[in-house]
Amino acid sequence: MASFVRLLPGIAVVTGAGGTGIGAAVAKGFARSGCSKIAITDINPKTLDQTKDAILRINPSIHVFNKPGDIADESFVDSFNDEVFSRFSRLDYAVNCAGVLGGDVIKAVEMTTDAFDRLNNINYKGSWLSCRAQLRNMLKQQPLQEHPRQRGSIVNIASQLGIVARPGAAAYCASKAAIINMTRANAIDYSDDGIRVNCVCPGVIETPMTTTSKAMVEALKPAIDIAPMKRMGTPEEVADAVLFLCSAQASFIQGHALVVDGGYTIN
Ligand SMILES: NC(=O)c1ccc[n+]([C@@H]2O[C@H](COP(=O)([O-])OP(=O)(O)OC[C@H]3O[C@@H](n4cnc5c(N)ncnc54)[C@H](O)[C@@H]3O)[C@@H](O)[C@H]2O)c1
Repeated sequence: MASFVRLLPGIAVVTGAGGTGIGAAVAKGFARSGCSKIAITDINPKTLDQTKDAILRINPSIHVFNKPGDIADESFVDSFNDEVFSRFSRLDYAVNCAGVLGGDVIKAVEMTTDAFDRLNNINYKGSWLSCRAQLRNMLKQQPLQEHPRQRGSIVNIASQLGIVARPGAAAYCASKAAIINMTRANAIDYSDDGIRVNCVCPGVIETPMTTTSKAMVEALKPAIDIAPMKRMGTPEEVADAVLFLCSAQASFIQGHALVVDGGYTIN
């Protein structure tokens, strides 16, 4: 299956790329769209290897660099991104997908401070650390000849829950709202440097995050029923939006939060 998005030749990095979720779909989307070098990371080494194999099945000549690690760990994030840049000599597209829900249904008084810190260290701080390292590297390079206006493009994965709230997810909602406004602020700060920073806000998507726990499946039913399209989205539907935001077709889109939610946030 070829992606409809044609990317310019370029180097891509994807966090949270293990398994069968959104990050893996984005990494495979980059492979189908013509990227020749793709760096992937995830905390789970086994599922990360599976994504590497899937990319190579799409195109065995793609150079894949995979390194497992914790996105909340500053020294890992910096060393991973430095290694990507020194191996590949540039970074054109960065997609930050690593994230956790932090539990099935947890209201504020039920959540420990440790659990709150861990959730924010992965979702918000992990995205912030990744953006910082990616921006630093993008600033070292010139735009590609084929795309003189763009030095690099970053897409963060936020959530519809960064825009609206749902019961039992206060800390998660706040972490995703933080990602949306961090995206906008970085877009302002790095526009003059030719770097675009956008985010995608998925609705309920069929991934291990939403399907592994029975309690979560139950908790999400009302959200699926409320959305006009009344179904879960697929990781590929999110990946297509991410690839579009990375592409030259999105060259005037800056600091945007693109909802891919079957209409959930209309109401
Ligand atoms: N599935 C949904 O309905 C949905 C909706 C909105 C937003 N999102 C967001 O999309 C992103 C991807 O989620 P998904 O649905 O594909 O779920 P997923 O669980 O399949 O993917 C998340 C990935 O992040 C990795 N990860 C978790 N903690 C990490 C850490 N500390 N360091 C590095 N990697 C880590 C996991 O191993 C996993 O591979 C997340 O940021 C999530 O919050 C998902």
